[in-house]
Amino acid sequence: MEIKAIIGDITQIKAGAILVSFFQGMKNPDGDTARVNKALDGAISQLISQDEIKGKSGELTVIHSLGRLPAERVVVVGLGKPAKLTLDRVRGSVAEACRFLRQKYVSDIATVAQGTGTAGISVKSSAQAITEGALLGLYAFRQHITEAAEYGEIKKLFIVAGDKGNLPSLEQSINKGMILAEAANLARDMVNEPANYMTPSHMAEMATRLAKDYRLEVSIMERTQMQALGMGALLGVAQGSQQPPKLIVLNYRGSDTKEINLALVGKGITFDSGGISIKPSEGMGEMKGDMAGGAAVMAALSAIARLKPKINITAVIPATENLPSGIALKPGDVVTAMNGKTVEIISTDAEGRLALADALAYTQKLGAKRIVDVATLTGSCRVALGDVYTGVLGNNQKLIDGVINAGRESGELIWQLPMHEQYKEQNKSDVADIKNVGGKYAGAITAAQFLAEFAGDAPWVHLDIAGTSMTDKERAYQVKGATGVPVRTLVNLVLSLSK
Ligand code: BES
Ligand code: ZN
Ligand code: ZN
Repeated sequence: MEIKAIIGDITQIKAGAILVSFFQGMKNPDGDTARVNKALDGAISQLISQDEIKGKSGELTVIHSLGRLPAERVVVVGLGKPAKLTLDRVRGSVAEACRFLRQKYVSDIATVAQGTGTAGISVKSSAQAITEGALLGLYAFRQHITEAAEYGEIKKLFIVAGDKGNLPSLEQSINKGMILAEAANLARDMVNEPANYMTPSHMAEMATRLAKDYRLEVSIMERTQMQALGMGALLGVAQGSQQPPKLIVLNYRGSDTKEINLALVGKGITFDSGGISIKPSEGMGEMKGDMAGGAAVMAALSAIARLKPKINITAVIPATENLPSGIALKPGDVVTAMNGKTVEIISTDAEGRLALADALAYTQKLGAKRIVDVATLTGSCRVALGDVYTGVLGNNQKLIDGVINAGRESGELIWQLPMHEQYKEQNKSDVADIKNVGGKYAGAITAAQFLAEFAGDAPWVHLDIAGTSMTDKERAYQVKGATGVPVRTLVNLVLSLSK
């Protein structure tokens, strides 16, 4: 889809549809909506007075112009109450309008800069949100569907700003929105891909491809190198599978120093059957998405490479399957991680923290100044926060706040869980330094406490995306399947750290 900024008058635009907006609680259309209303001989105000247009968030009203405007249709987008308007609502409303128009085989759309003048929303930030909303909302994973879609394709989206707009700055905002949304969609593609396609080797090939396309440094560590480094925890998870494990390392260098300003570590379990502690078969297919953390950090790096902040970022992704077999890891086994710590295996289904233990220890050895890890780590986090909030825990409040704020900017909700010392008790083992399951309660917290043992003393933050990486419903700019969370948050975090 081509997205372009235009400085001009929405009533003069020729397109399949133009989008204007209306707020809940208002009696009359104003601004662009008023001018379109006038061209339509008062059709919008009539629908408002008949209560057909209420301006509720999510409301879409189509009016055919029948020659009264160069555009064929006008869509009045409800933006809800002005006091409650956020950029995320702009993303969501545009996404829903685009999906609706695609269903009608409309191929070119023009929209006003939705929501500007309200809640401090600038033309620039609106243009970025519109871009993100359209690209994220129109996403579909059709890789393995051979039949044609039962809807059209939106080929062009014009964002029309009045005299307040400034073309170069609008284009910059659109470009940023495109980079963020394309990265999130890349992560979605990887997560939606079936596990027989998205193997550890395929993830490694994708990393190599990204490195080539975006000029990143890449190195893929094989089993023998992991053995040499003593990565017994990651290797333990990998030992039951026929697929060779890969430790993917991507480097972005935006600054001249040798420092790694931030390491992003992502769980890359390409399929989690639970291993010998096998999961119930119902819903097990969902576990193809257990590499969503790894996908998110890879995709984030692709966006960072395009945005070129002056900062150095390294991504580390331990990629492996978790399968049962005659040589698989067993409950009761003890493994030794790269930092020398021994781990008693209580459940082979708590494999994410094992893979991350070695990835975090490796990152620590690289001397990263800060670490953020992303993982579909615990069912417990999903039980606590559902698919709305990502859980965040860590050892440094400043970095946690930075992540939460970057989330707010992205419309990705993040909720902090407590890391009290007392929870650490639950991970104590009788036969090793630590055990990989801390009991029935506070599972998201004990999992994070486990990771903390391998992250070292540098500021470290853990994002548990078990609940938010996938969704079973279409809502705003999310569609069924992978969400692409928290790619845009990670990129915005990096941009803020680079300032
Ligand atoms: N990959 C799962 C966590 C998960 C659950 C992700 C649901 C997405 C949706 C993880 O490896 C796992 O199995 N965790 C166990 C840990 C338990 C054995 C301590 C869990 O949460 O049940
Ligand atoms: Zn598991
Ligand atoms: Zn898992």
